[in-house]
Amino acid sequence: MKKSSFGILGLGVMGKSLALNMLNNHIPISVYNRETGEEVGVVADFLKTANNTSVKGFTDLGEFVNSIETPRQILIMVKAGKVIDRVINGLLPYLEENDIIIDGGNSHYEDTAKRVAYLSEHKINFIGLGVSGGEEGALKGPSLMPGGSKESYQKIAATLEKIAAKDDDGKPCCNYIGPAGAGHFVKMVHNGIEYGDMQLLAELYALLLLTKTYEEISKLFFEWNEGELASYLLEITAKILVEKEGNENLLNLILDKAGNKGTGSWSSTVALKLGVPTTVKTTAVYARYTSSFKNERVVLAKKIDRKIKSIEPIDLVALKEAYDFARTINLQQGLQLIKTASDTYNWGLDLAEICRIWSNGCIIKSKKIVAYSKVLQQVDSLFEAKQVVSGLNKQETAITKILQNGLANRVNVPCFYEAYNYWIAMTTAQSSANLIQAQRDFFGAHRFQKIGAKEEESFHHNWSELC
Ligand code: 6PG
Repeated sequence: MKKSSFGILGLGVMGKSLALNMLNNHIPISVYNRETGEEVGVVADFLKTANNTSVKGFTDLGEFVNSIETPRQILIMVKAGKVIDRVINGLLPYLEENDIIIDGGNSHYEDTAKRVAYLSEHKINFIGLGVSGGEEGALKGPSLMPGGSKESYQKIAATLEKIAAKDDDGKPCCNYIGPAGAGHFVKMVHNGIEYGDMQLLAELYALLLLTKTYEEISKLFFEWNEGELASYLLEITAKILVEKEGNENLLNLILDKAGNKGTGSWSSTVALKLGVPTTVKTTAVYARYTSSFKNERVVLAKKIDRKIKSIEPIDLVALKEAYDFARTINLQQGLQLIKTASDTYNWGLDLAEICRIWSNGCIIKSKKIVAYSKVLQQVDSLFEAKQVVSGLNKQETAITKILQNGLANRVNVPCFYEAYNYWIAMTTAQSSANLIQAQRDFFGAHRFQKIGAKEEESFHHNWSELC
C-alpha cells in the first residue's frame, strides 16, 4: 500500500479543516483520532465528508504511524497542555530517528522548548507551529508560525507553504520563525494583539451604541473597512452587529461575560516577566476578567446614582482616527514584546517577516499590517518610522476627544486610555520615575543612578528623618 506523505493526529475542528486543506492541495494524508466516548465514529465521519482516495483513516496509533512515509511528518492537533505530552509519549514507541512531530495547537512556548529538547534526545524533531485563522483559515489557508530547528522546518516547508494563506504578492503566509518555542511565542503574542483589537472594537461599539442603532454602527464599520483600516476583525464585527436570531438582534441575546482560553493572559504574563509594557492587550485581558463579574456589576449598577442627563454626541472623524491610533499602539507593543524576547532568547526574529506572515490568513490580518511589514523592512521598530510617529502625533487630538466623550458619557473604554497613556509616557522625555527612585532609596536603600554619572555607578542618600 502506498504510504501517505503526511499524518494528522486529532480531528477536532482545526485538525479536520487542516486535513481537508491538505487534500484540496493534493497532499496524500493519513488521519488518526481516538475512538473513545464522544469521539467514536470521528474518523469514519471524516472519511465520509472528505470523500477522497488520498486519505487513509485510522483509530490504531501504530497502524497510523506505519502508514506514513519516513522520515515521518505528523501534525498533532489536540488541546494544548498535558495531553500533548501524553500523545507524544504514545507516539514515541512507533517513531524512528529523524521523524518530525509538529504541534499545531496553542501550546505555551516554554512547553514547546522543553518538548524540542526532550524529543531531540530521542533523535526526533519537534516543531511548535502557531496556526491562526480559525476554522475557515485552517480550511482555506491559515497563517502559519513554525518554530524549532531550521533543518526540520525545511523538510516540512513545502507542505506548510502549500496550505498556508498567500500574501498580496502570492507568497505563503508561512516562514521559519526561529528556534525552540519561537513559533508558539509569536502565535501567543498574535493572540494578545487579537485581544487588544477585539476589545477596541467592543469599546467603539459601546461608545457608538449611545446614539446609534446596530444597523448604523455596522454600516459605519463596513465603510471604514473599505479604506486603510480594513481588517478581518472589523469586517466580522460589522457582520455580527446585524446578525439576527428570529427577529431579535443576536447581540441582544448574548450574555456580556467574555471567555478566554488563556493565551491572552500568557502573553501579558510574559510581557511582565520580560519588562515590556504591553498595556493595551493586558488591559483587554482585564476587561474580559472584569466582564465576568456580572452578578457584582448588576448589583453595583443598581446601587449607584450616576445617570447621564444628556448624551454627548460623538465625533465620527475623531473616532476613526482614535481607533487607528490605538490599533497602531497595540501592534507596536506586541512587536516590542517579540523584539525583546528575540534579544533575550537570542532567537533572531524578523519583525517585518512576522508582520508579512500576519498579513493574511490570521485573525489580526489587516491592511495596516501589510503596510507596517513594509515599513519594518527599513526600521527596527514602528517608533523609528517617521511616518508612523507623525501619524500618531497628528491623531493625539482625536484620541483625547474620544476619551473626553467616554468620560462625559460614562462609557468604559480602558484600551483607548491605555493606548493614549502609553503614547504620552513614551513621548515624555522627563518622567516622574526620579521620585520613585528616591522613595525606593528612602525606605530600602535601593540606590539610584544620577544624571550625568556613569551608568554602572549607583548612589545612596542619607535621607533626613523629618517625619
Ligand atoms: C487564531 C485564534 C485562535 C483562538 C484562540 C483564542 O489565531 O485563530 O487566536 O487561536 O481564537 O483560541 O481564543 P480565546 O479568546 O478563547 O482565548
